[in-house]
Amino acid sequence: MPIYNFNPGPAMLPREVLLQAQAELLDYQGLGYSILEMSHRSAPFETLLEEMRNDIRELLKVPGNYHILFCHGGARQQFAMVPMNLLTDNNKADYVVTGAWSRMAFDEAKKYGDIHIAAEPNKSDFTYTPDPKTWNIRPDTAYVHYTSNETIHGVQFHFTPNLKVPLIADMSSDLFTRPIDVSRYGLIYAAAQKNFGAAGLTLVIIREDLVKAPQALTPGLMHYQKQIETNSLYNTPPTFSWYLSALYLKWIKAQGGLSALEKRNKEKSKVLYDYIDSTSFYHNPVHKTARSWMNAPFTLAKRELDATFLAEATAAGLIGLKGHSSLGGMRASLYNPMNIEGAQALVKFMVQFEGKHSDSKKPAAKNTNQMQIPGL
Ligand SMILES: Cc1ncc(COP(=O)(O)O)c(C=O)c1O
Repeated sequence: MPIYNFNPGPAMLPREVLLQAQAELLDYQGLGYSILEMSHRSAPFETLLEEMRNDIRELLKVPGNYHILFCHGGARQQFAMVPMNLLTDNNKADYVVTGAWSRMAFDEAKKYGDIHIAAEPNKSDFTYTPDPKTWNIRPDTAYVHYTSNETIHGVQFHFTPNLKVPLIADMSSDLFTRPIDVSRYGLIYAAAQKNFGAAGLTLVIIREDLVKAPQALTPGLMHYQKQIETNSLYNTPPTFSWYLSALYLKWIKAQGGLSALEKRNKEKSKVLYDYIDSTSFYHNPVHKTARSWMNAPFTLAKRELDATFLAEATAAGLIGLKGHSSLGGMRASLYNPMNIEGAQALVKFMVQFEGKHSDSKKPAAKNTNQMQIPGL
């Protein structure tokens, strides 16, 4: 029985990547020893880093005036590093809150300056992406921060906001899932463990004019300028995690790059949302224009069946479907390595489960009216 892993992260890795890592574990590229035992300052490791940077530049078409940094501490460390490094003399930055993760980024940033919310739906309405025309941006803000995909609430921006100030994006759950125009951003960061690697690596792409002296007490490891000067080797990095990303990036290229992944990612989520929309047995609250291709939270009309749904799904080889504790219900994460067969297997299971537990023989027609988005 195939196992399909819908865990939101650490997420499934491409099988080809795991197999190659397994094959090379004892002997990296014929050297006779493991990459795990290799100095991060050795020539083979520096070559691996160089190739990784080149692959990132190629896949994302990163312009020459951007630095590519490999950092630590996950995306959460960037919640602090961004304000510590990017705030200017007036200490002002504006945040767009569209779900739990952008809220956490805002809460962390508040420690470092005069941080305002530019837009935030009610908590119960973390179901849409507010129109940038309605954002309250201070003209002298150093930057505007937003989260391109809210992993918990399943809300994704399917457009890049057009702003006059530097745009900073947490892309932890959708970088490398579709093409983006890096030149529209001041800084992009993403933890690797969802769509391009394993936990341990956080990628930062920063426009060179934004690099400057950080706040006085910023630790060296959290200093973008220092990371640039040391080629991201200021201290001993989690080398195996970086190596896994290096393999993963090659896998993305072998799939046909980001346009090919975009097509597949869109298709997979459509299979799931189309079914959810066809029945009142399941429900996803997110406005159709903002539904995430990566994380689809959904609830059962009969909440008392949640535990049964999860147990039966696990028995059918569909794992990691439990929703985040703040929302309950289910969440299906459909990251890069999930194939269309995985999404279809989930829907097939959901149809069967509904057939077994629904009161009526025919799926009830759904009221598809969705809330009006303010400003539209
Ligand atoms: C959008 C987003 N931002 C930040 C984080 C935090 O990432 P980390 O655990 O690597 O710090 C997550 C984790 O799921 C996330 O989904």
